[in-house]
Amino acid sequence: MDFTDVVRQRRMVRHFTPQPVPAETIDRLIALTQHGPSAGFSQGVAFVVITDPTIRKRVAEIAGEEGYVAGGFHPFISEAPVQVVICTSEKVYRDRYREPDKLDAEGREIEWPVPYWHTDAGAALMVLLLGATNEGLASAFVGTHDPPALQRLLGIPDDFWPIGVAMIGHGAEDVRSPSLKRGRRPLENVLHRERW
Ligand SMILES: Cc1cc2nc3c(=O)[nH]c(=O)nc-3n(C[C@H](O)[C@H](O)[C@H](O)COP(=O)(O)O)c2cc1C
Repeated sequence: MDFTDVVRQRRMVRHFTPQPVPAETIDRLIALTQHGPSAGFSQGVAFVVITDPTIRKRVAEIAGEEGYVAGGFHPFISEAPVQVVICTSEKVYRDRYREPDKLDAEGREIEWPVPYWHTDAGAALMVLLLGATNEGLASAFVGTHDPPALQRLLGIPDDFWPIGVAMIGHGAEDVRSPSLKRGRRPLENVLHRERW
């Protein structure tokens, strides 16, 4: 698929058919995320892939599926045949940036301008979603207000923080998010040439 088409066709699809996705496809998509950028090549992003329907249901509960259904959406979190919990580790980045080549002029760990572990998790999420589109699959992402509950359910170690859940599967006709009514910002709003 043409790259521009992949980017333009990707959208959050909030309804999935029960058709499964082969494990090899998911493995390929996760492997693709490893080609995303990573500060200091720290690679502190990791994934938990869930296909078991009972666990998917628990993940969906933690991610507030009930609220989506009450709001008129399909139960898209639990019905997706594959959930991918994206986790990122501040510790991995801090350890990496304490290595000699990353210390500042005074030999100290840098002052972090932004939490690069979140930057990298976003980049990995993007590769995952675009990769799914490229494979002809539908995908979505939801945040969760209770990351520790996901840690407990899935045995995610304390030093990895689940940033949310991506769903991958075969799309069905869905209910569109009301957020989309905001429309895309005009390019002039977001593009500042030479200076803001
Ligand atoms: C960090 C992040 C968090 C999001 N959280 C949710 C969420 O909790 N629930 C949801 O339905 N969509 C969520 N979305 C999806 C956005 O609503 C969606 O990307 C946006 O409305 C644009 O729509 P599109 O991705 O279909 O183009 C999230 C997206 C991002 C990037």
